Amino acid sequence: MSVPGTRTALVTGAGRRVGRAIAFGLAERGWRVAVHHHGSSEGAAETVAAIEGRGGEAATFRADLLSAAAPDALVAEVVARFGRLDALVNSAASMLRTPVGETTAAQFDEVVALNLRAPFLLAQAAARVMSPGSAIVNVGDHMADEPVPGYAVHGVAKAGVHAMTRHLAAALAPGIRVNAVAPGFVLAPEGYPPDAIARFAAATPLERIGTPEEVADAVAFLLDATYITGETLRVDGGRRLRR
Ligand SMILES: NC(=O)c1ccc[n+]([C@@H]2O[C@H](COP(=O)([O-])OP(=O)(O)OC[C@H]3O[C@@H](n4cnc5c(N)ncnc54)[C@H](OP(=O)(O)O)[C@@H]3O)[C@@H](O)[C@H]2O)c1
Repeated sequence: MSVPGTRTALVTGAGRRVGRAIAFGLAERGWRVAVHHHGSSEGAAETVAAIEGRGGEAATFRADLLSAAAPDALVAEVVARFGRLDALVNSAASMLRTPVGETTAAQFDEVVALNLRAPFLLAQAAARVMSPGSAIVNVGDHMADEPVPGYAVHGVAKAGVHAMTRHLAAALAPGIRVNAVAPGFVLAPEGYPPDAIARFAAATPLERIGTPEEVADAVAFLLDATYITGETLRVDGGRRLRR
């Protein structure tokens, strides 16, 4: 791991799984990392300990991003702790089942509040304190373009994330770049049937599912890609080519 510089990145949902891999990936490249979590306090503490153990710098921040007031408060806490904010990675999201015909208004609102409204409010709050040259990366999803039975609202919210990326990029240029990554299947939920993973891999041109580290590499690339804004980079093994 390179010696931590002063560049500071806030990664939401960094207490476990993909968000944690993004936090590690940035720390390895010398970013100081604000490790956001909600329920995964232990996981977030482990993320910080692992980063510090490799010579990096990080701290945990807890916030329930279903609350509309949380984004402003979270950004203020990060700036109070680190003195600056140079990057925001919006990774926290839910994947609630919302079959068409059975979905309630409350479920719809909950998915949109966490997966779309929170990244928007966080981007707004971050942009207010970021210096020119800063960047935002939103974590989208292949399901924005590929309907998966039972997950319509998730897909709609993630399509919103891809659209939001373009709108924010236009609104925040030239000072702040805004991009997105759209992962394919990179990490199965616990207990996910192996044969379902194998079917997904077989339907992917690169013939495997991805890894959280491959998403983290794409996020790190976009944070430093000084002439790219408003783009959504697919990290999906070419899955879109088969549709
Ligand atoms: N896994 C994949 O294959 C895949 C594929 C495509 C896209 N993605 C996207 O990649 C990102 C990470 O995926 P993942 O599989 O690691 O997700 P995950 O396992 O479902 O984790 C969800 C994350 O969101 C956070 N979160 C949930 N509710 C929250 C709340 N109310 N307030 C604040 N944070 C909350 C969780 O934090 P706590 O645990 O601390 O509560 C956790 O870190 C998501 O945006 C997802 O849509 C993943």
